[in-house]
Amino acid sequence: MYNIFKDKYFKEYYSNGFVETDTVLSHDLVDEIRAHYQAKAEGHNDFPKFFVNNEHQIYLEGEESGRAFSKLPKSVAHQKIRELYDTSYSKAVYCEQVFMERVMTELLEKDFLRFFKTPYLIVSYDIYLTNDCNRPGAGIHTDPPNFHHFYETENDVTIYIPLVDLNDKNGGRISVLPESKLKLSGNVLLKMMEEAFGGEQQWLDENGYIDPDKIDDKALSDFIKSRPYQRLIEHQRNVISMARQYYTDEFTYINESKGRVLLWNNKNFHAAEAWKEKSFNREVYIIRCMPIYNTKIKLKNKLHGKLFNNLLVHVKTGTLEKFDREVDVSQIPEMDKVAI
Ligand SMILES: [Fe+2]
Repeated sequence: MYNIFKDKYFKEYYSNGFVETDTVLSHDLVDEIRAHYQAKAEGHNDFPKFFVNNEHQIYLEGEESGRAFSKLPKSVAHQKIRELYDTSYSKAVYCEQVFMERVMTELLEKDFLRFFKTPYLIVSYDIYLTNDCNRPGAGIHTDPPNFHHFYETENDVTIYIPLVDLNDKNGGRISVLPESKLKLSGNVLLKMMEEAFGGEQQWLDENGYIDPDKIDDKALSDFIKSRPYQRLIEHQRNVISMARQYYTDEFTYINESKGRVLLWNNKNFHAAEAWKEKSFNREVYIIRCMPIYNTKIKLKNKLHGKLFNNLLVHVKTGTLEKFDREVDVSQIPEMDKVAI
């Protein structure tokens, strides 16, 4: 994240786990977001969609029953994973993409880019999570780097917007283990992907970039089973168990008020406290962003059938550019990319 945040804010992020922005999204927009998602069916849960290509294998295998999960038939596994995540959230909605542009436009007007050093940010997709007080919160985990669905990386920026107050009284606070304590490395996955797919014409687009949509199920499955990838999963599983065993008392909690924007990185270990308030639910809205790396991998443009990765923030000019396809990273000058 050193190449992402300006030095002053990097220090805050590195030692505390968060960057406090003191930027508040207008309550009119917050209320509109709440109304939109509250109208969606109770129990809407997009997590099982990620099970198809095993993103959450590492997360699952960190759980006691993890290994058994990966041996179940897919339909049974989907049901099980739904039950697993239903214990934390009553709705989990990914990639709705309805409010991202408006939220980012408002944040840009509020000088939100003052935190960033990296010249470009891709605004990838959004997430809405809600739960009532009868659920246990989310335990210590990381959202592991992957490329099957999102192309998530080590230095992702999570724009975290509580839609209600998260504090001692209400509960629901997010907690993060600062990067200075323990870090999960992730960009090595991009190097592995380059090694596995970069040399063969059949996986490349017209610019010579690896096109994830050209990688067929068999090739992907072979990559997942390969020794390098399995070593990475093993490594990630080990680091997660260390976080749980040695660092549970060193997570930073933070009180947040409705609409107040927090920056952090979901690749760091985090957890969500149980919600206590009975009269209304915990609700958070998240926008996931990432820098542009000097890796020759094309961005995907569909997540669960919806266009994503199509908003680009120009940090120097403070402008937001929208495309009708994914951001074409081959057009970005090499000097403006973050080295993996
Ligand atoms: Fe998470």
